[in-house]
Formats: sequence, C-alpha cells, structure tokens
Amino acid sequence: MAHVYQCLLGATVVLLVLGCATTGLDDASSCVDMVSGGFRPIATDRAARFLGKVQEPTAQCRGGDRTVAWRDTPWTDWQNYWATAGAQSLAPGWSVRGGHAGPNGRGVDGALLDLEYQRIELIKFNLFDNSGTYRDYVSGRGGVDGRALKVWSEMRLPNGHPQYAAVGGEGEQRCQGDLIRFRTLTGICNDIKNPRMGSSGMPFARNVEFGATFPELGQDELARNRHGDRLSLLVPDPQVISRRLFTRAQAGPDTCRDGHGLPGDSADARCDYKKAPFFNVLAAFWIQFMTHDWFSHLREGANAPEMMAVGCPPAAAQLGCRPDDRIDRAYVDQDAPPSTFTAGGKTHLARAYKTSTNTVTAWWDASQLYGYDEVSRRRVKRALDDPAKLLMVPAGQRAGAGERLGYLPVLEASDPMNPQWVGQEAAAFPDNWSIGISFYHTVFAREHNRFVETFRAQAAATPDADSGLRNPARPRDVIRYRDVTADELFEVARLVVSAEIAKIHTTEWTPQLLYDEPLYLGMNANWHGLFRGKDRLRAVMEKITVQNFGTSTDAKKAGQWYSVFASGAGIFGLGSHVYEDDAIFAAYDPAKVDRWTLENLDHVNGGVNHFGSPFNFPEEFVTVYRLHTMVPDLIELRRWDDDPNAVRNKVPVVDTFRGRATAAMRERGLANWALSMGRQRLGLLTLQNHPHFLQGLELPRLGSPTGKIDVVALDLIRDRERGVPRFNEFRRQYGLTQLTSFDDFIDPRLARGTPERAEQERLVGILREVYGQHRCDASKAITSAQRNADGSPINDCLGRPHGSLVDNVEDVDTVVGWLSEFARPHGFAISETQFQVFILNASRRLFSDRFFTSSFRPEFYGHVGVRWVTDNGPDGKVMEKGQPNGHEVEVSPLKRVLLRTVPELGPELAHVVNAFDPWARDRGEYYSLDWTPRKGAESDPAFREK
Ligand code: HEM
Repeated sequence: MAHVYQCLLGATVVLLVLGCATTGLDDASSCVDMVSGGFRPIATDRAARFLGKVQEPTAQCRGGDRTVAWRDTPWTDWQNYWATAGAQSLAPGWSVRGGHAGPNGRGVDGALLDLEYQRIELIKFNLFDNSGTYRDYVSGRGGVDGRALKVWSEMRLPNGHPQYAAVGGEGEQRCQGDLIRFRTLTGICNDIKNPRMGSSGMPFARNVEFGATFPELGQDELARNRHGDRLSLLVPDPQVISRRLFTRAQAGPDTCRDGHGLPGDSADARCDYKKAPFFNVLAAFWIQFMTHDWFSHLREGANAPEMMAVGCPPAAAQLGCRPDDRIDRAYVDQDAPPSTFTAGGKTHLARAYKTSTNTVTAWWDASQLYGYDEVSRRRVKRALDDPAKLLMVPAGQRAGAGERLGYLPVLEASDPMNPQWVGQEAAAFPDNWSIGISFYHTVFAREHNRFVETFRAQAAATPDADSGLRNPARPRDVIRYRDVTADELFEVARLVVSAEIAKIHTTEWTPQLLYDEPLYLGMNANWHGLFRGKDRLRAVMEKITVQNFGTSTDAKKAGQWYSVFASGAGIFGLGSHVYEDDAIFAAYDPAKVDRWTLENLDHVNGGVNHFGSPFNFPEEFVTVYRLHTMVPDLIELRRWDDDPNAVRNKVPVVDTFRGRATAAMRERGLANWALSMGRQRLGLLTLQNHPHFLQGLELPRLGSPTGKIDVVALDLIRDRERGVPRFNEFRRQYGLTQLTSFDDFIDPRLARGTPERAEQERLVGILREVYGQHRCDASKAITSAQRNADGSPINDCLGRPHGSLVDNVEDVDTVVGWLSEFARPHGFAISETQFQVFILNASRRLFSDRFFTSSFRPEFYGHVGVRWVTDNGPDGKVMEKGQPNGHEVEVSPLKRVLLRTVPELGPELAHVVNAFDPWARDRGEYYSLDWTPRKGAESDPAFREK
C-alpha cells in the first residue's frame, strides 16, 4: 500500500487551503506534518492505489483521535473526519461555517479530496470495454496513448444499418443533420464521431480486470486459488442464502401473510421491515425507474428460452424455499474463448470470458418513457389533438387540480405486447410494472405535456421571435416559434425531460441517498461545479492535477485526466461555451464573447470525454443496483384531501404488480399515491430485509411447476451467470480494502455487549454457516489487484499462518457482501462498496453525453428548454425558505415537477425540502437522521413505530 506522500506543493498553498489554525484540539502539529508531507501522487500501478486510507498526521488533522483509531479498519477514512456526519461530528466549539482553516472545513475539504483521488484512480484503473477496443486502450494507436483515444472503429455503424450511408458508410463516419439534432431512438449519434456508442444492443462493459470475471469457470489461476472448488452456479445454494440471509423477520406473520396483507387492504395488516428514516418509498421506485432507462438484460420481458433449476435442496425446503422453481437462463452474447494480446510484457485478455448486451440505450435519455427501438416506440402514444404531447386520458371524477392532466392510456391488443403486460398502461419499457413505476411514468408524461403547453403559450405570444432552436442541416437559419413542428417539439420535450430527470437524480435523489455534507457538495458539484465560491480549493485541485499529469493545458487537451476540472466547472457548465482563449470545456463567462457554433462539429461534440474507453455500463453496475430490499411489502395508503396523517389502508405492493398497478392508480389517484409513498420510509439495504412477496413472485410465463420465482435468490444467480467477481475481489478491484474475516463486517464503532452489535454478530454467524471456512494455503496467491503492505502477494490465508482455519470470505456473493456492510458513512442508504461503483459510473454517464455537455445549448433545447432545466421550471429560480443544513437551496427539481403535475399536493409539499426525504419528517439540524414528526404531523401513526 503506498501511503507515500510527496511534497508536490508549496507549503503556503496547502496552509492556505487546508489550514493549520489552532483548534483547541490536539491536531495542529499533525496538520503541519501532513502539509510537509505534501499530496500523495496518483498511483502509477493498480496495486499501489489510494484505498481511501490516509496517513496518521492526515487523519489526526482532519478528524482527530477517532479518525486515527479508524485507520485500522477496512473502511474508508473520510467518513470519520470532522463535520462529515451529523451534528455530533462537528468539532466542539467550531461552527459549521468555520471556514476551510477550521477543523470542520478541513474535514469536509479532506473528504472531497479523498473522493476526488478515488474518482481519478477509478477512471485510471477500472475501465474495461467489452466491445473490442481494449487492446487499443492498453497499447495505444498511431502513437497516441490509449487513454487519450477518442474514436474507435468498433463504434462505427455496421454495413446494413439503416443509417450506414447517412453517417458516411465505409469512409470516415460522422453523424450530421437530423441525426445529431435530437436524442435518436436507438441512441446512435450522441457522440458524433462514434455513432454506435451507447446505442441499444451494445455489450455491457466491465469495471474489473477481465481475468477476474467468471471466477467459477476456473480459467484464471488466481481465481482457482481464491475459491478452490467451492463455487458453482448453484453453490452455495442461492435459495438457501435467500431464506437465511434475506428474509424479513415478522413479529406477527399472520398479519403479513408473506406480503399479501389482510383482505380488503385492511390497515390492520402489518409486515415488519427495517426502515431508513431519511429516505422514502418514492426514492425506491425512483431508482427502479432510472435503471429501466439505463440498462436491461431482458429482451421484450424475457431471458433466453432455455429453462434451469434454481436450487433449494430438498433438505432445505423447511426453510420455505421451493425446489421446483425454474427460470429462463440469462442471454449470453459471446462465450467463445477471448483472444489475448501482449503489451508491456504482460498477456492480456481482449474481453471478459462471456459478454451480454444492454437491450436499452445506455444514455440518460428517458428511453423507458420514449423508447429505445422501433418495437418499444410503438408503445409510446401521442395525443391526437397535438402530436407534440403524449396521450393522456381521464380516469374517474376525482377532485384535484392535477386530474385534468390525465393518466396514461392502457396498452391495446394491437400494441407490441407480452401476455403478462395485458391491462398495463402503455410505456416503452413495460416490465416489472408496479404502482411506483406507474407513478413516475404518469408524472413525467404530465411534465412532458406541461412543457409543450408552456412552449406553445410562448409561441402564441411571440410567434416571430427566435426560439433559439436550430437545424444542424441549416445552422444559420433562425427558427421562429411559429416554425417549430409538433414532431420537433416532441423531441425538444424529450431532451428537457431527460435533463430534468438527470438533474433530479444528481442533485436531489443522490444527496438524500448519501445524506451528509461532503456528498451534498460533491453531487451539486457534478451538476453546477464544485467550487462556486470556493476558489482556494479549486486552485489546489488544479495543482494536484497539474503536478500529477503535466501542464494543465496538456491534461485538458488530451482529455485524459480532467475529472478534477470537470468537477470544477460542473457538467452543465462544461464545454457549452467556446472562447477565444479557452477552446474547450469553458464555463459560462458573461464577460467574454461565446464563439460556439453549430457549424463546427467539434464545438457540438467537444465537451464529451470517454477517458479512452467507449461508454457503456459495466455488469458490476447492475449488481450494485439490485436494491430490492428498498421495497416494503405494504404501502400505507393516505388521502391528500382528508387528514394526510391518517393511514387508511395497507395495500400489498404485489397487488399492484403489472396490470393491477394500472387499476390501483386509476382507483386511488396519483395524488394519494404520491402522498403515501412520499411519507413512508423505504427498506434499509441490509441483511434479512427483502420483501416477502419478491421471494415468491408469480411469473406464469415461466410455465414451471410452481409458476413462482424467488427474485432475490435470482439476484445472486444472475450475477453468477454474468461472472461478477465475489465481494472481496470486487472491493480489491475497485480500490477498496479487503476483509480478512466475516467479523470485519461488524461496525467497529459499536461497543461490545450492545444489542446492535449482538445483532450484527448474529448475522455474521449465519454468514459463516452459509459460506463456511477452510484450512488456508499460504503458498497460493489469490489476486493481482492489490498487495500486502510489505509488497508480498495476498494469499489464501489473508494474513493468518499457513494452515489456519479461515472464513470463506472470498466466496461471498457481492450482493450479500454489500448488504452485510454494517459500517457506513453517516446518512448513507447504500454501502461504501456500492458507492465506489457509483463514483466512477455516475460521473461517466454525464461526461460522455453530448446533450449534458457541449450540446446543452438553446440550439438543441430552445430558450424555453434551457431555462426550464436551469431554473427547474418555467417561472425562474425559486429559493427554499431558511438554510437547510446551512445552505441556501433552490426549491428542488422534483418538488417543482410535483407542484406542476400534482398541484393539489401544494400544502403537503410546502414542508418538503427534498422530495425523497419522508415528507412529514422533521429534518432537524445538520444532517439529522432522527425519526420525529414535523409540526402538524404529530398524529401520524408512522412516527410511533421505530
Ligand atoms: C415491485 C417491485 C419490483 C419487482 C416486482 C421487481 C422484479 C424483478 C425481477 C422479476 C427481476 C429479474 C429479471 C431477470 O433477471 O429475469 C428484477 C431484476 C432487477 N431489479 Fe427488480 N423488481 C422490483 C423493484 C426493483 C427496485 C426498486 C429496484 C431498484 C433499483 C430493482 C432493480 C432491479 C435490477 C437492477 C434488476 C436486474 C436487471 C437486469 O439484469 O438488467 N427492482 N426485478
């Protein structure tokens, strides 16, 4: 492990930024020691990565004694710095706003620096493209370093593609004209020079070395050493793991009935689950709604035709599992042995042992709403009176101003449809439909139409004014409002809705998922720019980059290592302006003349950055989104117009599966569902917390003896089918510290003998029973991703003597591993391992998309669209009252969407700061996680439960 710090910067700069003011705490001399050590260099070798662990003086300076004590744990250090948790983490005697020099400032700035190091090293070491470009990435091409490559032949449209000739055929391929004006249906031509990138049907990438994939195949000696002969598709048994480690305990099983509740949706039903006090059910369905946009392995709702058994040996049936369940196998795209090549004296695999494809576009383009191929587009219905709008229909005669905006129409027999989708609302992505998915599709269809109405109103008021839009085929022609066709307006609305969704996810959902100060700043940075008003910190971040990567100009031009700058300018601020003295990635500067022009495709495309590896999601990303624990079994139904504090019914989520969601939506109305899911807490991501109904979900299409499947056991099976490395190697590959026994999962902050610790010890005991132990062999090296602190290879004994009995911690399925991480940063609904995957991929999904970078311009979005995305709606910026957590904040983008699309919720939403925080919770002081009611919600029975 390299904790070697070099003195890269003048001490003056560092003193300025990190500060060494006397705090009254015994850390001043540590700050001096840290400063004299300078910043650590970015690792040149993957085995010498940062790992989120700092040196002792740094720990002391940023967080005092408890941070120093934490250094011996496997978990990242920043979570124990000053001010990175709740009020108790603030340095005594210092205010939150103590400035960068004070302990709180050092803590938060230090956390941001650590996270930025992680991101840079993730970009450097964790990109493995499966579509054939990896060799060039490693070896370079034509004298250009692989990480600076920007165009790949594998991203060309193949001969026979309908747009083959339009992009240039067998010559140089460059998208132009209509192909670059809007988001295309299949996602081609987002990157003008790489038409195929991110389009439907491209291979999933990987974030781990190809040799580390598919450990069960035993192709790799390290994998064989790591797991012996202990693993196969159904070993350890996935249904047994599900029943022992995933099942929710019930105080009264008779009132839960495996998630089916009580007859008549009685409010007396009760299904216990472990709840997150700071995250609501809307947040659970939001992320499912997002994943349907980003990735899918299914093809029109099905997997490969061949059926297979899914475990549960007869002896285990008393646990409640089912030996007769069957499932369709996962699709595999390529499974021939991958080719190899030699570079730098090493032999490399050119791809993973098997690959599969992403059925939908990888872009954040709302393809779940608007479609990702011709078939899915046929389920997207346009209004008859104005084809720029989506078709919405009335449903009932309920009160509420939003009701006039209507509901989605139901799929018709003539629509492309599977039998299981009969009776559902029409949507491009119809699979795993439930009330939560119905909710978001309805909200954003209404929002689409609200945008069209606003645009039309503007066009009626100023028909001859410049709309801002341009056609790339005739870039100089002004397009007046009156000239915009319905089809064009439909596509502009899609651009706006997609960008709004990306903004909600980045600046509202994620800061509530990761509810602490560094992540609040970090996520807003991804969008607006980290260092607005923090120029000293920005200067130092730039220096780190310059010191590590040469001159800043080179770093920018090569486009390899500018993530630091990216967070400096923010994604939407990036690259959308071009100035005489700043040709790419320039943030908006009103004092300069903007030279950006649609005639120059390098301006249109120049802001994207793929870091040398074409963009697609990795299989590992899918794994960390298997968030089924978030779903409760029962939804506590309330009424917005009749005492929102009262719970009227408990509706089983399973009774809203597929077509029943549509019936439930229409019967109860959007506003009541919004209120109910807005107030209810979601399920914690932890062991023994999966919904009962998902362990026995009826899928009649399978035609199996039971007609049911345990979806949460399937989560494990699918990961094994797709060769996701097991948890410990997964962490090593991602630049995190390994665990050496199951006991490492226990939160070291908990005192011995406390009930919470006893519960974690109980669960760790089950992990040990399920995964087992073995006598280790110290002669067997098990990984090349990291080394021991003394430089020796990590071996099967994980630091213990040869022949010791060790936990089979290497075998833990990755989903089981991250569910077992009891030690987490404050306010993290997810684990540190999942978060590491997000740091890399969430940034990339913004950096790679032209419509979020250099094409976020009026020429594409129109003036109305740019304003809508920037200001969260048509009526300018609106600020929230007070200073939540010490910040002045805008009224959040989802709250604004809800106020437009479900306006009857105005009084309820008046109390809401973040739409994903349970709506009636008192947010308290500085990132409080307390579960107490806000004023006026004292009678809500939810607050009487833990
Ligand atoms: C009513 C609620 C839900 C139901 C009925 C449901 C059902 C399912 C089913 C049946 C599968 C298996 C598909 C297969 O591999 O054959 C699946 C996969 C998956 N689910 Fe859920 N799910 C629900 C909620 C969620 C939520 C809230 C999330 C949160 C992100 C989520 C994330 C995923 C992911 C990431 C996959 C893997 C998708 C892929 O392989 O491409 N699900 N779900």
